[in-house]
Amino acid sequence: MADVFAGVRLLGPPVTDGEYIALSEHETVHLHEYTRIYAVPGLYEHVVQDRLRCTSPQVAVAGFLRAAASLGLEPGSMTVLDVGAGTGLVGELVRHAGVARVVGVDALPAAREASLRDRPGVYADYVVGDFLLGDGLREALRPYAFGGLVSAGAFGGTHATPRALENALAILPPGAPVAFTIDERWMDASDPDGFGAAVERLIADRRLELLERTRFQHRVTTTGEPIFYQLVVGRTAPVPAD
Ligand SMILES: C[S@@+](CC[C@H](N)C(=O)[O-])C[C@H]1O[C@@H](n2cnc3c(N)ncnc32)[C@H](O)[C@@H]1O
Repeated sequence: MADVFAGVRLLGPPVTDGEYIALSEHETVHLHEYTRIYAVPGLYEHVVQDRLRCTSPQVAVAGFLRAAASLGLEPGSMTVLDVGAGTGLVGELVRHAGVARVVGVDALPAAREASLRDRPGVYADYVVGDFLLGDGLREALRPYAFGGLVSAGAFGGTHATPRALENALAILPPGAPVAFTIDERWMDASDPDGFGAAVERLIADRRLELLERTRFQHRVTTTGEPIFYQLVVGRTAPVPAD
């Protein structure tokens, strides 16, 4: 696969408007121009996983499995929600780990198309939607009894907002394992609009019980500097004791 992408160049230094990749002499795209990137089979994986050494899918899935194990839950009987599923890397990992069913949600039709094209059979369903837009997505997800949520690299910055995270967690039953990764820049609790404050709120309101919060290297930038994220692992409000 690497030879196919021999002409792809990573462009830096990343400035406030982000990182770019040159797909050819004539075409340069922003790293987050997912519709274009997902249109080429394997391009996202080549750039983000192989060249930028992104570990978020593996870290999020490992955190999710640790949470499920610590709660005594059996992945083989679980339906898991993958928020911001992209081309399906997270779905593939959870399925390989024995999770019975995974349902993907992504705001972009191109993500769904790429996942069905490159990883057919991984998702029981893959819904195009945004957790901010509410009702349509909730209706599409209603048939599923979700037992947990996993998400890699889909929250913060140009991606899903804290409210989307709160909405996604709200469709889970009590006691469900949850694992997601977020850029540490968005986890500063002193920003009332950030994810740090949202996570603190979820914990204070007893909507989320924190099991782990760890810093890890998510990937490197197009010029090779490390980017650090946090892995947040928890469970939704536990079932009250009798
Ligand atoms: C960096 S990619 C990560 C994809 C995948 N989770 C992975 O780790 O390979 C982020 C994905 O989140 C999706 N996304 C961003 N905002 C979203 C939102 N509000 N609702 C659903 N998906 C969203 C993007 O379309 C994109 O596919």
